[in-house]
Amino acid sequence: MTCLYSCFKKKGASPPRHTTEVDDVVSSIQNTTLYTYRELRIATENFTPANKIGEGGFGCVYKGSLKDGTVAAIKVLSADSRQGLREFLTEIKLIADIEHDNLVKLYGCCAEENHRILVYGYLENNSLAQTLLGGSHSSIQFSWPTRRKICIGVAQGLAFLHEEVQPHIVHRDIKASNILLDRDLMPKISDFGLAKLFPAHMTHISTRVAGTAGYLAPEYAIRGQLTRKADIYSFGVLLLEIVCGRANTNRRLPPEEQYLLERVWQMHVKGELVSLVDTSLNEDYDAEEACRYLKIGLLCTQNMPKLRPTMSTVVKMLRGEIDVNDDKISTPGLLSEFMGVRSDKDHKDKAKVKNSSYTDSAGSSKLEISSSSSAMATSHATMTFNSIYDRSN
Ligand SMILES: Nc1ncnc2c1ncn2[C@@H]1O[C@H](COP(=O)(O)OP(=O)(O)O)[C@@H](O)[C@H]1O
Ligand SMILES: [Mg+2]
Repeated sequence: MTCLYSCFKKKGASPPRHTTEVDDVVSSIQNTTLYTYRELRIATENFTPANKIGEGGFGCVYKGSLKDGTVAAIKVLSADSRQGLREFLTEIKLIADIEHDNLVKLYGCCAEENHRILVYGYLENNSLAQTLLGGSHSSIQFSWPTRRKICIGVAQGLAFLHEEVQPHIVHRDIKASNILLDRDLMPKISDFGLAKLFPAHMTHISTRVAGTAGYLAPEYAIRGQLTRKADIYSFGVLLLEIVCGRANTNRRLPPEEQYLLERVWQMHVKGELVSLVDTSLNEDYDAEEACRYLKIGLLCTQNMPKLRPTMSTVVKMLRGEIDVNDDKISTPGLLSEFMGVRSDKDHKDKAKVKNSSYTDSAGSSKLEISSSSSAMATSHATMTFNSIYDRSN
C-alpha cells in the first residue's frame, strides 16, 4: 500500500505492481491530493496535543500548516476504521468532488498503511457548538442578520447535498458542532459523506447517542429509517438552537424547559413564540422573521417525515420567498417521548394539543415504545443504530 502511495506521488517513478482495480481508483482521484504521513506529521508537529483542536466520534482533529503554507484541519480517523484502500479512496473521491460555498472543502487524504487521515480547509471561527452555544467562551456577537445568514447558508449547503449532488447525500449528523464558521461568519457544513467511510460494524453513533439524540428524527433513531427527511429534522432542531441561542437539550434547566423542541412547540400552541428568541439579542431583531424561523423549525421537525418540507423549500421560506402557513404545522416528533423521560403532566398537555398526527404509523409505534421502560427503549434504539450503515441513502 505504501508503495502504491509513494509511486502515485512521484509521477516520474516506474509504476508499481498492484491490482488494476486499485489502479483505476487511484487514477480517478487525480484531482485529490494524497498526502504522505510524514508530511502530515510535520504539518501538525508530530500530532502534538497543543495542535489538537477537537475530538469527535470519528477521531481527533489537529490544526496543521501544510508545505505550501496552507492552514488545514487534519482529521485522524480512529484506528477502528481500517477500511480497505479501495473503498476508502472511492468514498474520498465522492466527497472531494463536491464543492459549494457552504460545505467545508476536503483538500485530500492520507491512506498510507493503516492510517486514514482527512485534510480539510481550516475554518477560523470554530463551530456553532463552541461559539453560539458554547457559553461565554466566544467573543463573537451573533446579531440577527448574522444568524439569518448562518441559517440560510446551512440550508443552502444541505439543499445542495440533497437535491443537486447525484446521487444525493444524506448527511446523517447535522448538528451545531458540524457547522463551522469562516472569518466572515459564513457557515460551512463539515463531515458530509463521512459516516459512509466507516465499516458496518462500527457503532460510533450509538456511543454518542447521549450527545446527539436531540437532533435525531424519531423514525431514524428508533427504526433506522434514514432518508433526507431525517437530515431535515436535524436541520429544524439546529434552526431552533440558532434563533433561541441555546442547545437542544439542557438538563440544568427546569424539567419543562430542558428540551428545546418541546418548548418551542408548547409556546407555538400558546402563541408566545417570541418569548423564546435569544435574550442576548437585546430585542434587536425582526420579531416577525424570528418567529417565522421558529415555525420553519417546527415544520422541519414534524413527526411525519413526509410533512417536512424539502431543503430547497426551506431555503425559500427562510429568504421570505414562500409564506409559512401556520395551519400546516403539526405535532413534532419527540425522541424524549420514546425514551420515557417525559412526565405524565407533559403527556396530558400533549393530548390537548391541536393538529395531532398521532394516528399515523409512527405514532402507534411511539405509544408502544413509551409504555416500556426507558432502559428497554434505549437498548432498542442502540440496536437500530448498529445497523444503519447497511442502508443506502
Ligand atoms: N475544518 C475545520 N476547521 C476548524 N475546526 C474544525 C474543523 N473540523 C473540525 N473542527 C473542530 O474539531 C472539532 C471536532 O470535530 P469532529 O471530529 O468532526 O467532531 P464533532 O463534529 O463531533 O465535534 C469540531 O467540533 C471543531 O471544533
Ligand atoms: Mg464534525
